[in-house]
Amino acid sequence: MASLTIRKLDDAVKAYLRLRSAGNGRSVEEEVRVILGELIQGRPDFPGSPSASMASPAEASARAPAIADAANQASVTLIIGGGIAAFKSLELIRRLKERRIEVRCVLTKAAQQFVTPLSASALSHERVYTDLFDPGSEFDAGHIRLARECDLIVVAPATADLMAKMAHGHADDLASAILLAADKPILLAPAMNPLMWNNAATRRNVLQLRRDGVTMIGPNAGEMAETNEAGVGRMSEAVEIAAAAVDILRPPRPRPLLGKRVLITAGPTHEPIDPVRYIANRSSGKQGFAIAAAAQAAGADVTLVSGPVDLRDPAGVTVIRVESARDMLHRVEAALPADIAIFAAAVADWRVANEGEQKLKKTSAGMPPLQLVENPDILATISKMKDKRPPLVIGFAAETEHLIENAKAKIARKGCDWIVANDVSPATGVMGGDRNTVHLLQRAGKEIGAGNIAVDNIEVDSWPVMTKEQVATELVARIAKSLEKNS
Ligand code: C5P
Repeated sequence: MASLTIRKLDDAVKAYLRLRSAGNGRSVEEEVRVILGELIQGRPDFPGSPSASMASPAEASARAPAIADAANQASVTLIIGGGIAAFKSLELIRRLKERRIEVRCVLTKAAQQFVTPLSASALSHERVYTDLFDPGSEFDAGHIRLARECDLIVVAPATADLMAKMAHGHADDLASAILLAADKPILLAPAMNPLMWNNAATRRNVLQLRRDGVTMIGPNAGEMAETNEAGVGRMSEAVEIAAAAVDILRPPRPRPLLGKRVLITAGPTHEPIDPVRYIANRSSGKQGFAIAAAAQAAGADVTLVSGPVDLRDPAGVTVIRVESARDMLHRVEAALPADIAIFAAAVADWRVANEGEQKLKKTSAGMPPLQLVENPDILATISKMKDKRPPLVIGFAAETEHLIENAKAKIARKGCDWIVANDVSPATGVMGGDRNTVHLLQRAGKEIGAGNIAVDNIEVDSWPVMTKEQVATELVARIAKSLEKNS
């Protein structure tokens, strides 16, 4: 997550923020968060905004409140360490409770220099624990109960000292005793001065704690409490820590594609005219990348061969970046065998036969004649392979007219099993946009969803308008269902 350096804002903005935050009794940083939150929540594309709520029922259900439901009934022991970031932990209590997570707080002695047990108790609606030798809680082994009677232990801020104690198994106060007695997952949100974070001792402790199975979020880069100091050491924001906690608390997702190799192409191809010019198309690669991410989340071993796009590699996916259609074909062939191949790339149909070795010059002889030759058809090549053909080959048909007829003809011509057809007329905004309206076509006899119309042995299933991520998730679900049926 990027962090915003308030110091770098212009003076008038800073003066306004100072006044406004003082008036509202918040820190400047908190005030900026509130302003951003209000601004973003008012945007039409923000889930839950009035215009976004006009989305189709399919979209609405796909946006179900996963966080609140997933973490329902969960409980967290929150250990607040002694650092200036402790004030953010009070906000963290709120964020966790918003997600229906019960919070029991433990404050170290040092933490009480920054926040009071009373504030933590008022926000968590629970008793707050501070002492290892508190007769009220220790008569029944309070530290063991705090360690065990929860689903997750969060340490925020995790100071250098607390982390050192953890790494070495100390247990001389309530927080360290709980951490040593824990049989639950532990999430640390480190916060300290950048020099402390980079110190060799802290580096060793971090490594050890990671090896011990502790999860960490942050620290982020940004300004420090100390004047004119910046660097890596700021505690992650409360929302980030809450999201990381929910991720850990969420029951493991089903992984229907576990053990399956999925090969995906995405993006456009660039066909060189000369060393500096090329022929391309408007494909953004978003749909193919979303499918790769969805297949990876479903447990598949995913290889994504992508043309030039401005997208980040999806986590856990092997991404191979290529330029031209011929590069793409070579890399696809090299990535076989696969169980499922999905060809979402907008491969250029033609390339320049007489590619210039040097940059073509303007001359009085007029425009250089560009001769085009046909590119190899990757989808057809793989679909027609004898030995290495993946058992399920899925193509895409991006059309601007006669969508279904053209897509049906494409299944037959290219020899694939399924086609995802979409209308890419400029008015649809699909090319480069975030939404897609697709039809899944399948050769009769291969399983797809209910409510299909069989036409000429090809079944057509029309989906409502969805985000590209939702299309990806749905496609992966259909693949999983089909594998299950065929197994
Ligand atoms: O023929 P058309 O380009 O419309 O076909 C689209 C489908 O074929 C897509 O799945 C696309 O990835 C694939 N294709 C390909 N190689 C080509 C052209 C298209 O793999 N040279």
